[in-house]
Amino acid sequence: MKSIVLVGPMGVGKSTIGRLLATSLRRDFYDTDKLIEDRAGADISWIFDIEGEEGFRQRESNTLSELCQQDDLVIATGGGIIVREDNRKLLNKYGRVVYLTASISQLVRRTDKDKKRPLLQVDDPKQKIIELLESRDPLYREVADLIVETDGKTPKQVAESLA
Ligand code: S3P
Repeated sequence: MKSIVLVGPMGVGKSTIGRLLATSLRRDFYDTDKLIEDRAGADISWIFDIEGEEGFRQRESNTLSELCQQDDLVIATGGGIIVREDNRKLLNKYGRVVYLTASISQLVRRTDKDKKRPLLQVDDPKQKIIELLESRDPLYREVADLIVETDGKTPKQVAESLA
């Protein structure tokens, strides 16, 4: 069966929902950020510090291409997976891509005081979230087979709606 790939902004719940969905479908679950960290033996902030965002994006593209060799998975991606055109092309051919959305206030709430996300270590994280979403929303839509609003739903409810 086709893999299910969750895309969407930071804080929308891709990893939590993906894990629940994989359990209920009895499929293997992969989180691209977690795989990148495991392989690098370092966390994402460290990779951004040492290799820059480009270094991280290259690792992210490599990880995605590798995962896309297999079917039957549930994959949670990092919020910027759609930035590179090659990744979007790959996602357009592979799996069932679900764009998870949430209101800005929910995204801000769920990423509040987050030290793990280098792109949000700025003076005004809310403004950054707004800007990223403005530029990336069309890209998420370009790859999405399905768009699911998460506001007002628990991760379990969202996962059940996708199972
Ligand atoms: C990023 C999102 C993060 C992580 C990295 C960059 C982004 O993943 O990949 O910090 O560019 O939006 P989450 O969406 O899981 O937070």
